[in-house]
Amino acid sequence: MESVWTEEIKIRKREPLPGDMEAPVVVIGAGLAGLLTAYYLKQAGIRAVVLEADRIGGGQTNRTTAKITSQHNLVYDRILRTFGRGMAEHYANANEAAIGEYERLILEKGIDCDFVRCPACLYSRTGAEPLIREAEAAQSLGIKASFETDCELPFSVAGVTRFEDQARFHPLKFLAKMAEEAEVYEQTKVLKVEDKRVETAEGSVEAEQIVFASHFPFINVPGYYFARMYQERSYVVALEGAERPEGMYLGIDRDGLSFRTCGDLLLLGGGGHRTGENRRNGAGGGCGYEALRCRAREIYPGCREAFRWSAQDCMTLDGLPYIGRFSRRKQDWYVATGFGKWGMTTAMVSARILTALISGQDCPEADVFSPQRHFTTQAAKELAVHGAYTVKGLAKHFLPAGKGNVIPNCPHMGCRLEWNPEEESYDCPCHGSRFDREGRLLDGPAQTDCRKREV
Ligand code: FES
Repeated sequence: MESVWTEEIKIRKREPLPGDMEAPVVVIGAGLAGLLTAYYLKQAGIRAVVLEADRIGGGQTNRTTAKITSQHNLVYDRILRTFGRGMAEHYANANEAAIGEYERLILEKGIDCDFVRCPACLYSRTGAEPLIREAEAAQSLGIKASFETDCELPFSVAGVTRFEDQARFHPLKFLAKMAEEAEVYEQTKVLKVEDKRVETAEGSVEAEQIVFASHFPFINVPGYYFARMYQERSYVVALEGAERPEGMYLGIDRDGLSFRTCGDLLLLGGGGHRTGENRRNGAGGGCGYEALRCRAREIYPGCREAFRWSAQDCMTLDGLPYIGRFSRRKQDWYVATGFGKWGMTTAMVSARILTALISGQDCPEADVFSPQRHFTTQAAKELAVHGAYTVKGLAKHFLPAGKGNVIPNCPHMGCRLEWNPEEESYDCPCHGSRFDREGRLLDGPAQTDCRKREV
């Protein structure tokens, strides 16, 4: 089912790449991160050609809950402890500046995209301690944050960490306007990238610099992003007849939910799980649409579901995005990935950082987002967990594979795919590629469809 965003707006279609060409920069991916990067490069006097495998905004940009916030779950207390004050300030400053930059652009261009400033809050029903620490950490970094013991949600809470002056908007209304300023070629899937050459079925682009803004990078080496990220699915139901809070909320408990008002609707999110894990190991309270609907009925008896959709998020080992040079070995390749659940604000942060790096400007905030930042203890623990999934998925490759037409082995690196009955897709537990029931590719890093049995 399509999201509430696609219901309201259709973005003008663009032609595929017309053949071979040259450009100073090529951006792969016409989501928010890619198009904003192209926009700021253009402002800096640098032409950027954007290549999109499908349609503008056809990926995760239309599957978001569209919160623009510097509050990214419990992040500041952790960054302070693991990366130190300087990098924590950079993270806070970059994200706070991103909110302001959205507002500035929207006002300057007169974009009618339902942009509203509102508070963003974390809540817990079980314990206040982490919320108090997070509020104190954020305050110490200059964010207008507070800890409170009550909130407007229709159940009791142990505490709330509240950030002021955050925002929400309609992502596709914004994106449609920004796309007008970009040179975008749709239905142009990148097949291969070699040094300064990007090859597609329609032609190739020779570029001095290449930006990978296509969600999960599909190049395995260099960069090794497949070993440094996994993907999670999360679910949203848009409810009629539910109370609509002024603020945006996210629960930090295992069964925590996301709340956000959208016109007459309440967007309720949750039920997330690692891609490929489906129903078995979701967050407390179960996972998937049915679990989320159950929670909706408990909290808002009599509400009605108007829309439902799911999202796929790239999660990094230390919980911070990778924005910067793709690898030490590829100084002219850049990447923006691993946004977790915070794609809107991070897309703007990416665009500002990548534009600064490409145009040779100073950007002190880039250090905390660098894909080459130091490896933390937390990242090492996550690497072990992630590695175990990959080993298990690869081992299952050799098990008998059912009777269907599709051979359920992932074309990315061979892990056994898991059938997801709720979304009717084959999902890969290793790095999160997904395929429809006919084995057609839905989400990367895989680049091709599944193989089929001979009949
Ligand atoms: Fe990497 Fe499936 S996504 S093996």
